[in-house]
Amino acid sequence: MNDDQWQRILSLRQQGSRSDGSVSADRASPFSDLYRPIALGRERFVLAQVGQSLDGRVATPSGDAKEVSGCNGIEHLHRCRALVDAVIVGVGTVVADNPSLSVRAVPGVSPVRVVIDCNGRMPLNAKMLHDGGAPVIVVQASDVVLRCPEHETLQIDRQPNGELAPADILAALSERGLTSILVEGGATTIARFMDAGLIDRLHVSIAPIIIGSGPAGINLPPIDLLRDAKRPSVTVHNIGTDIVFDCDLRAGAAADKLEDRDKIPMAYPA
Ligand SMILES: NC(=O)c1ccc[n+]([C@@H]2O[C@H](COP(=O)([O-])OP(=O)(O)OC[C@H]3O[C@@H](n4cnc5c(N)ncnc54)[C@H](OP(=O)(O)O)[C@@H]3O)[C@@H](O)[C@H]2O)c1
Repeated sequence: MNDDQWQRILSLRQQGSRSDGSVSADRASPFSDLYRPIALGRERFVLAQVGQSLDGRVATPSGDAKEVSGCNGIEHLHRCRALVDAVIVGVGTVVADNPSLSVRAVPGVSPVRVVIDCNGRMPLNAKMLHDGGAPVIVVQASDVVLRCPEHETLQIDRQPNGELAPADILAALSERGLTSILVEGGATTIARFMDAGLIDRLHVSIAPIIIGSGPAGINLPPIDLLRDAKRPSVTVHNIGTDIVFDCDLRAGAAADKLEDRDKIPMAYPA
């Protein structure tokens, strides 16, 4: 994607819900289908993004997760960040990766950073708490002592299972005007939003690397039969160093039947 194409996508985001997305020049880009739904998703739009290896891993067993995605996969992640109001990670990702969650690889504004830290175990030396970047919002259970009082903290009542309802988290963010959301990980956090039926779109970005063992990008509750597996409607994008499966989780089961798999659309190669 060249700079002009990216600037057109960014301007679609700035136009927001006033735009019908029919800007003809934007449609000329092979990547517009990948980014336009995010750029236009102003009312309430939740994207989840996983960068993984060919064998579905996001890190080694010892936690090395720095270079799973190729450079275009990293750019893709940063483009997704630049198109949303807020990026959400679980505290497990902060402990493991100490990310800054900013937009650096492409032009764009960094989103508000949200950490789900139900039980108050956020590392107090986490980079994002001290880097002076985009605002940080910590989400805690209402029965836990404030962990990071110098940052905005949303206190949310626990569900009977002790967890926080993802819908309550989205509602609290929405009250602050944060309605387009990227759930960036890790596996536990994405799974809780998926399980609650709150993900509109899932991007699985696959890099040609085989890690062999290690954590997966999504951990949903187990199923016995493949017929119960999710088979979302997908479009495949060759972005260069990585391949992105853009899964529309709202479109129903367009690729529901095994015999329909050969109809999966492949966008233009990079
Ligand atoms: N490649 C990628 O795309 C990518 C992106 C991000 C992260 N990662 C990798 O993912 C791994 C971390 O994943 P993870 O699954 O272990 O951790 P995680 O999803 O980052 O964090 C999970 C923790 O967050 C809290 N949490 C999240 N949602 C919650 C909810 N609805 N209610 C209550 N608490 C909630 C819980 O904290 P408590 O346990 O304190 O209750 C939970 O254990 C790391 O290896 C990281 O490198 C990969």
